[in-house]
Amino acid sequence: MAAATVPARDETLAFPDGFVWGAATAAYQVEGATREDGRGVSIWDTFCRTPGRVAGGHTGDVACDHYRRHADDVRLMAELGLGAYRFSVAWPRVQPSGSGAVNAAGLDFYDRLVDELLAADVVPYVTLYHWDLPQELEDRGGWAERDTAHRFADYARIVHRRLGDRVGTWVTVNEPWVAAFLGYGMGVHAPGRTSAADAFRASHHLLLAHGLGARVLRDGGARQIALTLNLAPVMTPGQVGDPDLTPSAADAEAVDRVDCLLNRQFLDPALRGEYPEPVLAIVERTAGLGHVRDGDLATINQPVDLLGINYYTPCVVRAEPGEPPNPAYPGTEDVMFSGAHAPTTAMGWPIVPTGLSRLLVRLSRDYPEVGLLVTENGAAFDDVVTGDRVHDPDRTAFFDNHLRAAHEAIEAGADLRGFLAWSLMDNFEWGEGYRKRFGLVHVDFETQRRLPKDSALWYREVIRCNGLRR
Ligand code: NOJ
Repeated sequence: MAAATVPARDETLAFPDGFVWGAATAAYQVEGATREDGRGVSIWDTFCRTPGRVAGGHTGDVACDHYRRHADDVRLMAELGLGAYRFSVAWPRVQPSGSGAVNAAGLDFYDRLVDELLAADVVPYVTLYHWDLPQELEDRGGWAERDTAHRFADYARIVHRRLGDRVGTWVTVNEPWVAAFLGYGMGVHAPGRTSAADAFRASHHLLLAHGLGARVLRDGGARQIALTLNLAPVMTPGQVGDPDLTPSAADAEAVDRVDCLLNRQFLDPALRGEYPEPVLAIVERTAGLGHVRDGDLATINQPVDLLGINYYTPCVVRAEPGEPPNPAYPGTEDVMFSGAHAPTTAMGWPIVPTGLSRLLVRLSRDYPEVGLLVTENGAAFDDVVTGDRVHDPDRTAFFDNHLRAAHEAIEAGADLRGFLAWSLMDNFEWGEGYRKRFGLVHVDFETQRRLPKDSALWYREVIRCNGLRR
């Protein structure tokens, strides 16, 4: 077979040398084997068993059976040319009750996975917390309780001691906004609680966990430490079509307030050591500030090397006097959330690639010390298998357009170091169960057959060329 040629540089929209290309998953979404080898129960096991919580009554019990098929999955990653694989460690595999005794078999699994990845030249990126809190910790108050952050630091130490000699890049916590507000405020994610006060407490304790964990990782000699946030540019409906459109004063105020709640509530403590004033005021009247102790912000504000960005769609708002606040999300009175006028994915999320360029440029401008890494970006579509192919042009177009936006942002000065697609393969999409498929690789959940979609083959070319064809 003739050697594949790399297109000449001027035919390519090239990314910087050393740009990291990869894909991501999370433990509960892919591993299955929830009762094997001493794994403890997580809040997602419990949530899935509660009738009416997850679409179709689906659970992560089997998922992609990745716990048993990891070696094949790593081979697949190598075939797709991935340079990096971001996976998460299941806390209840490592510490079944969330504190104390360590389950050796759980750690062994990740040890083997890391070795297999390295042997296949795929760099492991480890996320320590991707939402599968040990149930026993939830029974003691979960993230609304300060002690959970300290237990997380112990767990981080245990995992880093075992894998730190081979894993250089560590993400402490994935999407604290989602864990806190969907899990403790709106109740649509585990543990399914509906207390706005607990959501704010959980946010703070997840940030504290990040800070304590980052300190443990740094002391242990970790090379790169990151926090991953779900970030969205907050825009008015008009700005989606025309990013330069100046909103009215009332709209601008609504945009600022929502930006504070969604983005800066996490960015500012982690990267500047302070909460934005409007957030403090909203937290104070919702939960009081008793849970924010002296010294916490300094702990949260640990030096980090990378900010992980999960971007899917912008947040579109406008001022609407008289609109009541969402009880689970205080501070949103007089704000109307609306969809952007744009085509949507199977999740109903408007597709707005300019949202990514806007976000990246803003982050590098406002938080210039930290490198940026897209830790997730991708789309669910209703894929159809035709023979041994999955033609998914919508997903390819989604990635292509978002990567063009990322490239534009780099040219405009954003310090973007890499891009990890969500997801390597179709998996358990939380409250949506298995019905929403985000994978580059199709998974037949009856047979567990893996089938790279057309988008995966396209992505392999992007990686090979370190860029897009112009
Ligand atoms: C972000 C989460 O980290 C991931 O677990 C989820 O599957 C994707 N968003 C898509 O909803």
